[in-house]
Amino acid sequence: MKLGIVVGSTRPNRVSLKEAKWIAKTAKELDGVEPEIVDLKDYPMPFFDEPASPRYNPDRKIEPAVQKWLDKINQFDAYIFVTAEYNHSIPAVLKNAIDYITTELNRKPATVVSHGSVGGARATMHLKEILSESRAAIIPQAVTFIGVSDAVDEEGNLNEDIKANPYGPYGALQIALVELKWYSDALSVARSKD
Ligand SMILES: Cc1cc2nc3c(=O)[nH]c(=O)nc-3n(C[C@H](O)[C@H](O)[C@H](O)COP(=O)(O)O)c2cc1C
Repeated sequence: MKLGIVVGSTRPNRVSLKEAKWIAKTAKELDGVEPEIVDLKDYPMPFFDEPASPRYNPDRKIEPAVQKWLDKINQFDAYIFVTAEYNHSIPAVLKNAIDYITTELNRKPATVVSHGSVGGARATMHLKEILSESRAAIIPQAVTFIGVSDAVDEEGNLNEDIKANPYGPYGALQIALVELKWYSDALSVARSKD
Protein backbone atom coordinates (compact mmCIF):
# COMPACT_ATOMS: atom_id res chain seq x y z
CA MET A 1 0.00 0.00 0.00
CA LYS A 2 1.43 3.31 -1.09
CA LEU A 3 0.25 5.63 1.68
CA GLY A 4 0.15 9.38 1.10
CA ILE A 5 0.36 11.41 4.32
CA VAL A 6 -0.79 14.93 3.49
CA VAL A 7 0.47 17.71 5.77
CA GLY A 8 -2.45 20.13 5.95
CA SER A 9 -0.76 23.15 7.54
CA THR A 10 1.98 25.26 5.97
CA ARG A 11 2.64 27.88 8.64
CA PRO A 12 6.09 28.25 10.28
CA ASN A 13 6.47 26.11 13.43
CA ARG A 14 3.51 23.92 12.50
CA VAL A 15 3.09 20.77 14.54
CA SER A 16 1.34 19.01 11.63
CA LEU A 17 4.72 18.18 10.08
CA LYS A 18 6.07 16.33 13.10
CA GLU A 19 2.72 14.61 13.50
CA ALA A 20 3.07 13.44 9.87
CA LYS A 21 6.61 12.19 10.61
CA TRP A 22 5.24 10.19 13.56
CA ILE A 23 2.56 8.67 11.30
CA ALA A 24 5.18 7.75 8.68
CA LYS A 25 7.42 6.11 11.30
CA THR A 26 4.51 4.14 12.72
CA ALA A 27 3.32 3.11 9.25
CA LYS A 28 6.77 1.68 8.47
CA GLU A 29 6.25 -0.82 11.33
CA LEU A 30 3.55 -2.53 9.23
CA ASP A 31 4.37 -5.02 6.46
CA GLY A 32 3.44 -3.88 2.99
CA VAL A 33 3.02 -0.18 3.80
CA GLU A 34 5.11 2.44 1.98
CA PRO A 35 4.42 5.82 3.55
CA GLU A 36 5.32 9.11 1.89
CA ILE A 37 4.81 12.56 3.34
CA VAL A 38 3.19 15.05 0.96
CA ASP A 39 3.80 18.49 2.41
CA LEU A 40 1.47 21.20 1.06
CA LYS A 41 4.33 23.63 1.63
CA ASP A 42 5.95 21.98 -1.42
CA TYR A 43 2.78 22.51 -3.47
CA PRO A 44 1.94 26.21 -3.28
CA MET A 45 -1.24 26.89 -5.25
CA PRO A 46 -3.35 30.01 -5.84
CA PHE A 47 -6.82 30.20 -4.33
CA PHE A 48 -9.17 28.13 -6.46
CA ASP A 49 -10.87 30.33 -9.06
CA GLU A 50 -11.67 28.02 -11.96
CA PRO A 51 -14.87 28.84 -13.89
CA ALA A 52 -16.53 25.49 -13.08
CA SER A 53 -16.26 22.58 -10.71
CA PRO A 54 -13.20 20.53 -11.75
CA ARG A 55 -15.33 17.38 -11.83
CA TYR A 56 -17.73 18.89 -14.39
CA ASN A 57 -15.37 20.85 -16.61
CA PRO A 58 -14.15 18.94 -19.68
CA ASP A 59 -12.34 22.07 -20.91
CA ARG A 60 -10.46 22.50 -17.66
CA LYS A 61 -7.10 24.22 -18.01
CA ILE A 62 -4.86 23.18 -15.14
CA GLU A 63 -2.01 25.39 -14.02
CA PRO A 64 1.37 23.60 -13.71
CA ALA A 65 1.49 24.15 -9.93
CA VAL A 66 -1.91 22.49 -9.57
CA GLN A 67 -1.05 19.67 -11.98
CA LYS A 68 2.03 18.87 -9.86
CA TRP A 69 -0.23 18.44 -6.80
CA LEU A 70 -2.78 16.33 -8.71
CA ASP A 71 -0.06 14.09 -10.19
CA LYS A 72 1.42 13.50 -6.75
CA ILE A 73 -1.88 12.78 -4.99
CA ASN A 74 -2.88 10.41 -7.78
CA GLN A 75 0.07 8.09 -7.02
CA PHE A 76 -1.26 6.62 -3.79
CA ASP A 77 -3.46 3.68 -2.82
CA ALA A 78 -4.56 5.22 0.49
CA TYR A 79 -4.39 8.51 2.34
CA ILE A 80 -3.99 10.02 5.77
CA PHE A 81 -4.78 13.73 5.91
CA VAL A 82 -3.11 15.49 8.82
CA THR A 83 -5.17 18.45 9.90
CA ALA A 84 -4.90 21.17 12.47
CA GLU A 85 -8.12 22.71 13.81
CA TYR A 86 -8.47 26.34 12.79
CA ASN A 87 -11.66 28.02 14.02
CA HIS A 88 -13.33 24.63 14.49
CA SER A 89 -12.53 23.51 10.96
CA ILE A 90 -9.60 22.69 8.69
CA PRO A 91 -6.86 25.10 7.52
CA ALA A 92 -7.80 27.02 4.36
CA VAL A 93 -4.66 25.79 2.59
CA LEU A 94 -5.86 22.19 2.96
CA LYS A 95 -9.40 22.97 1.79
CA ASN A 96 -7.98 24.82 -1.21
CA ALA A 97 -5.80 21.85 -2.20
CA ILE A 98 -8.77 19.48 -1.91
CA ASP A 99 -10.98 21.77 -4.02
CA TYR A 100 -8.68 21.13 -7.01
CA ILE A 101 -9.10 17.34 -6.81
CA THR A 102 -11.14 15.57 -9.49
CA THR A 103 -10.84 11.76 -9.68
CA GLU A 104 -7.52 11.24 -7.89
CA LEU A 105 -9.10 9.89 -4.68
CA ASN A 106 -11.88 7.88 -6.31
CA ARG A 107 -12.65 4.63 -4.48
CA LYS A 108 -9.47 4.82 -2.41
CA PRO A 109 -9.52 4.67 1.39
CA ALA A 110 -8.69 7.75 3.41
CA THR A 111 -8.72 8.85 7.01
CA VAL A 112 -7.73 11.80 9.19
CA VAL A 113 -5.24 12.41 11.98
CA SER A 114 -5.90 15.69 13.75
CA HIS A 115 -4.74 17.74 16.71
CA GLY A 116 -5.97 20.64 18.78
CA SER A 117 -7.44 21.42 22.19
CA VAL A 118 -10.09 18.72 21.68
CA GLY A 119 -7.80 16.68 19.47
CA GLY A 120 -9.04 18.48 16.37
CA ALA A 121 -12.26 16.46 16.54
CA ARG A 122 -14.35 19.20 14.94
CA ALA A 123 -11.87 19.57 12.09
CA THR A 124 -11.88 15.80 11.62
CA MET A 125 -15.66 15.69 11.26
CA HIS A 126 -15.56 18.48 8.68
CA LEU A 127 -12.69 16.87 6.79
CA LYS A 128 -14.39 13.48 6.57
CA GLU A 129 -17.41 15.18 4.98
CA ILE A 130 -15.22 17.13 2.57
CA LEU A 131 -13.23 14.05 1.53
CA SER A 132 -16.37 12.03 0.92
CA GLU A 133 -17.42 14.60 -1.71
CA SER A 134 -13.94 14.16 -3.18
CA ARG A 135 -14.96 10.50 -3.73
CA ALA A 136 -12.54 8.98 -1.21
CA ALA A 137 -13.77 5.97 0.78
CA ILE A 138 -13.60 7.31 4.33
CA ILE A 139 -12.84 4.60 6.87
CA PRO A 140 -14.40 4.78 10.35
CA GLN A 141 -11.13 4.91 12.30
CA ALA A 142 -9.41 8.28 12.81
CA VAL A 143 -6.95 9.69 15.35
CA THR A 144 -7.59 12.82 17.40
CA PHE A 145 -4.46 13.81 19.29
CA ILE A 146 -4.41 16.21 22.26
CA GLY A 147 -0.98 17.58 23.20
CA VAL A 148 0.94 16.50 20.11
CA SER A 149 3.40 19.42 20.31
CA ASP A 150 4.79 18.13 23.64
CA ALA A 151 4.35 14.42 22.91
CA VAL A 152 6.18 14.21 19.56
CA ASP A 153 9.67 15.52 18.81
CA GLU A 154 10.81 17.16 15.56
CA GLU A 155 11.87 13.78 14.13
CA GLY A 156 8.44 12.28 14.80
CA ASN A 157 9.34 10.21 17.88
CA LEU A 158 6.45 9.76 20.30
CA ASN A 159 7.08 10.10 24.06
CA GLU A 160 7.54 6.56 25.46
CA ASP A 161 5.01 6.96 28.31
CA ILE A 162 2.32 8.08 25.89
CA LYS A 163 3.29 5.31 23.48
CA ALA A 164 2.81 2.71 26.23
CA ASN A 165 -0.84 3.69 26.80
CA PRO A 166 -2.89 1.18 24.74
CA TYR A 167 -5.80 3.64 24.64
CA GLY A 168 -3.63 6.58 23.58
CA PRO A 169 -2.79 7.97 20.13
CA TYR A 170 -0.28 5.24 19.28
CA GLY A 171 -2.84 2.45 19.67
CA ALA A 172 -5.42 4.49 17.77
CA LEU A 173 -3.01 5.09 14.91
CA GLN A 174 -2.01 1.42 14.74
CA ILE A 175 -5.68 0.42 14.42
CA ALA A 176 -6.32 3.09 11.78
CA LEU A 177 -3.33 1.91 9.74
CA VAL A 178 -4.36 -1.74 9.90
CA GLU A 179 -7.88 -0.81 8.79
CA LEU A 180 -6.57 1.45 6.03
CA LYS A 181 -4.46 -1.45 4.72
CA TRP A 182 -7.47 -3.77 4.80
CA TYR A 183 -9.60 -1.38 2.82
CA SER A 184 -6.74 -0.56 0.48
CA ASP A 185 -6.15 -4.24 -0.35
CA ALA A 186 -9.88 -4.84 -0.88
CA LEU A 187 -10.52 -1.72 -2.92
CA SER A 188 -7.45 -2.09 -5.14
CA VAL A 189 -8.76 -5.53 -6.22
CA ALA A 190 -12.20 -4.03 -6.83
CA ARG A 191 -10.77 -1.08 -8.79
CA SER A 192 -8.78 -3.44 -10.99
CA LYS A 193 -12.12 -4.84 -12.24
CA ASP A 194 -13.45 -1.39 -13.21
C1 LIG B 1 -6.09 30.57 12.94
C2 LIG B 1 -6.08 29.56 14.07
C3 LIG B 1 -7.26 29.09 14.58
C4 LIG B 1 -7.27 28.11 15.58
N1 LIG B 1 -8.44 27.60 15.99
C5 LIG B 1 -8.43 26.54 16.84
C6 LIG B 1 -9.65 25.87 17.15
O1 LIG B 1 -10.72 26.22 16.70
N2 LIG B 1 -9.59 24.80 17.98
C7 LIG B 1 -8.41 24.35 18.50
O2 LIG B 1 -8.41 23.35 19.22
N3 LIG B 1 -7.23 24.97 18.21
C8 LIG B 1 -7.23 26.04 17.40
N4 LIG B 1 -6.06 26.65 17.07
C9 LIG B 1 -4.81 26.17 17.66
C10 LIG B 1 -4.19 25.12 16.74
O3 LIG B 1 -4.84 23.88 16.89
C11 LIG B 1 -2.70 24.98 17.07
O4 LIG B 1 -2.08 26.23 16.83
C12 LIG B 1 -2.04 23.93 16.23
O5 LIG B 1 -0.68 23.83 16.57
C13 LIG B 1 -2.17 24.26 14.75
O6 LIG B 1 -1.61 23.23 13.96
P1 LIG B 1 -0.31 23.54 13.09
O7 LIG B 1 0.76 23.93 14.10
O8 LIG B 1 0.01 22.27 12.41
O9 LIG B 1 -0.62 24.66 12.16
C14 LIG B 1 -6.04 27.64 16.10
C15 LIG B 1 -4.83 28.14 15.58
C16 LIG B 1 -4.85 29.07 14.57
C17 LIG B 1 -3.54 29.56 13.99
